[in-house]
Amino acid sequence: SSTSPMVVVANRLPFIITKDKDGNLVRKQCAGGLVTAVAPVVVETEGLWVGWSGLHKEDSTGEIPEADPLDQSPTAGLKSKQVIPVCLPKQQFDDYYNGCCNATFWPLFHSMPDRAIFQADKWEAYRQVNEEFAVLTVEAVKKLKESNPDSVPLVWLHDYHLMMAANSIRDMCDNLGLQINMAFFLHIPFPSWDIMRLFPWDDELLQGILGCDSVGFHVEDYCLNFIDCCQRRLGCRVDREQMLVEHNSRTVSVHPLPISIPYERFVSLAMKAPQVVKNHDQEQLLLGVDRLDYTKGLVHRILAFETLLKKHPEHIEHVTFLQVAVPSRTDVKEYQELKEELDQLIGRINGQFSTPNWSPIRYIYGCVSQEELAAFYRDSSVAVVTPLRDGMNLVAKEFVACQTGEPGVLILSPFAGAGSSMHEALLVNPYETNEFADVIHRALTMPKDERELRMKQLRRRERERDVNFWLTSFLKSVKSLSD
Ligand code: UDP
Ligand code: G6P
Repeated sequence: SSTSPMVVVANRLPFIITKDKDGNLVRKQCAGGLVTAVAPVVVETEGLWVGWSGLHKEDSTGEIPEADPLDQSPTAGLKSKQVIPVCLPKQQFDDYYNGCCNATFWPLFHSMPDRAIFQADKWEAYRQVNEEFAVLTVEAVKKLKESNPDSVPLVWLHDYHLMMAANSIRDMCDNLGLQINMAFFLHIPFPSWDIMRLFPWDDELLQGILGCDSVGFHVEDYCLNFIDCCQRRLGCRVDREQMLVEHNSRTVSVHPLPISIPYERFVSLAMKAPQVVKNHDQEQLLLGVDRLDYTKGLVHRILAFETLLKKHPEHIEHVTFLQVAVPSRTDVKEYQELKEELDQLIGRINGQFSTPNWSPIRYIYGCVSQEELAAFYRDSSVAVVTPLRDGMNLVAKEFVACQTGEPGVLILSPFAGAGSSMHEALLVNPYETNEFADVIHRALTMPKDERELRMKQLRRRERERDVNFWLTSFLKSVKSLSD
């Protein structure tokens, strides 16, 4: 293949390692667009994947099990020698992952600075762990060069966990005379300058990202925010039309690359999935699917649903709100508090509106397989994807892909990256509770021909711009580096 071998570097490996009942190490699948899209390319180019296996130094030998022979997942073809595990002491990892990634960068980059903590020791742990990732990445580059001395490996760093690794990788490779290209892709929003400047070490962070040759974000707004920060904080010369930033006599190119889903895979899941059990034939399902995260707007959504039941009691016993909330980052206080708040709110609303045969909210606190999700997506009348802020949001795209039967309606927040391309969704500001309730009512009562028209357009766009399109666009954007 003409593609250069790739080293993917991400906080997580494409699977987590656990022990089965006999104490043997086994791979467990992680869901998510990144894994499905990128794993096949790493397999095909015989590349490598550097990341955390879910284990800490205290309880791991660093051994990676081979895939189960029956494994059908996208990572099944990834041999254990293609995997480089990052295994760190628990305390250090915790300071980096929970203390800095989840408690600082996650809220800050989602423009929620009040939830962010800024602590020098956590930032120090972040830099140290990025250094560890850098060392292992260079080992990976060496390994690729040994088997293919003429290649120029592509190092692809992912997400807010690894914004400080590029310069160390570059320096080490320069010293060893190893030629590489390096790209970074951010899976969350990039905030505007007045948010970014709240981070006490913003200059170091920006320089960290600029260590790459090519930097990708989901949408143009995030690209422009990044360029703006580089200009205002570091005084870089920038070109907004061409999306270029000059730094230390290098030119870094910036690219809007909206991530997407394996569209056809979801269509076939939806075709195969068994029916979702409803209370009665006429029952309409309203669906929410999110990690339990304060950026997802869960409280706002539930309050809007409560308002709907008050304003339009005709929906009582006819509409059920099914919310899947996946436990996430449960070591972080903000996430624990949100869990409490949701439990109370849902309890109160179910207590207030339930009848002997019906409860307004069906709440699943747990992870649902994509096979089962496909059935939820297909059989729901309305999907409510209303984050307060979200890099892209794949759930919106999976919902439309799975709408193979009676067409439903997508309600979408303009504050998700997906909001800037999925124009036929009903857009609603999740903070406007009354308006939000009206939009849900409109979705539930929308005539079939309008639903059909909107869903057809949404589906066509997502079919064309699927995850392969994202990956091809990315590979094109880095190809120009080696030309
Ligand atoms: N997902 C899943 N099981 C669940 C809930 C979600 O597999 O119970 C998957 C979902 O199919 C989607 C991903 O998790 O691919 C969530 O991606 P999204 O971009 O919507 O949000 P993120 O969690 O990355 O913020
Ligand atoms: C978001 C981030 C990913 C992260 C995922 C799950 O999608 O962009 O980098 O892997 O959430 O979060 P977790 O902290 O469990 O990896």
